[in-house]
Amino acid sequence: MSQKLEASQSRFMLPADEVTPEHVWLNRRRFIQALGVAGLGLSPWLGGGRALAGPGFTLEDTLKGLAPLKSRPDKRFGLDRPLTARRVAASFNNFYEFTPTKNVWPKVERFQTKPWRLEISGLVKNPVTYDVKDLIAGQKLEERLYRFRCVEAWAMAVPWIGFPLHRLLKQALPLPQARYVRFRSFLKRDQAPVQNDGSTYNLWPYFEGLTLPEAMNELALVTVGIYSHELPKQHGAPIRVVLPWKYGFKGPKSITRIELVAEQPRTFWNTLGPDEYDFWSNVNPDKPHPRWSQKYERMLGTGDSRPTQLYNGYGSYVAHLYAGMQESDPRFGFGKG
Ligand code: MTE
Repeated sequence: MSQKLEASQSRFMLPADEVTPEHVWLNRRRFIQALGVAGLGLSPWLGGGRALAGPGFTLEDTLKGLAPLKSRPDKRFGLDRPLTARRVAASFNNFYEFTPTKNVWPKVERFQTKPWRLEISGLVKNPVTYDVKDLIAGQKLEERLYRFRCVEAWAMAVPWIGFPLHRLLKQALPLPQARYVRFRSFLKRDQAPVQNDGSTYNLWPYFEGLTLPEAMNELALVTVGIYSHELPKQHGAPIRVVLPWKYGFKGPKSITRIELVAEQPRTFWNTLGPDEYDFWSNVNPDKPHPRWSQKYERMLGTGDSRPTQLYNGYGSYVAHLYAGMQESDPRFGFGKG
């Protein structure tokens, strides 16, 4: 995930010189505290990038007009840290269809997310295509406070709104041969600039995958809202997947297809950088990324440093999926062991 694309070295995502060593950002934090301020504008790591969009288009424009969503708080998921501020989360994003930088919001003005269709297909008895508006209207929505951990070591804590992915999968009636789930995002070259620039990321549409048991896990959330409202475009409107025990890139935004398949599917970042982004990508402090440590994470907005937790702290829900594996097994996290 980098602006410096070195295809031969599989170096994507953050270039090494953007990955700040821990002692530097601890010092930076002291510096911020000394100033008596925290947050917007001081550092891209702290959220609040300020690239200008078209004339008059502001971050506020991406948030206003989002319909409020009714949901029931799911009390199982408490947080051990404060929520990330709504505007901070909405101004520091990864959405490579629009830009390889974190300033996604200035680029989404032309992105049309209504109407939107979502297809469930492949090895299922009941293939179906939903109009996403109807799909959302027909669901009991839950609000879940989840920790969210990007592979680049930034993290946030946000109130997502959605429903369990297993609900959709069960309705589709997977056939016995179905062992994996493949996700596909959108292709709109006229609306998403990077899809049209012939860059090294040219594998569009974005695609991801899970094993069927992972996709059926209670934590896997089909997400349609955040902060009590529909998703802003930069967060993956109108419908995305959130998997809080995995690095953020495993959860595709703005999805158009969920397909049940027999073989392990290829995935976007694994295809671009197989040595850096593996299929499993479970959060694991003991599996460093080849170019940086995963021991700590930095909270967007405050810059707080927290120790990374195995499975991002959700082991009681997911550890059984990986039981009996050696620590060297890539399913624990990154690397070849
Ligand atoms: N989905 C699509 N379609 N395109 C992307 O570039 N980036 C991933 C994931 N889903 C990405 C995507 C990465 S790297 C992360 S960390 C999260 O989205 C970021 O989600 P957020 O911007 O809502 O915080």
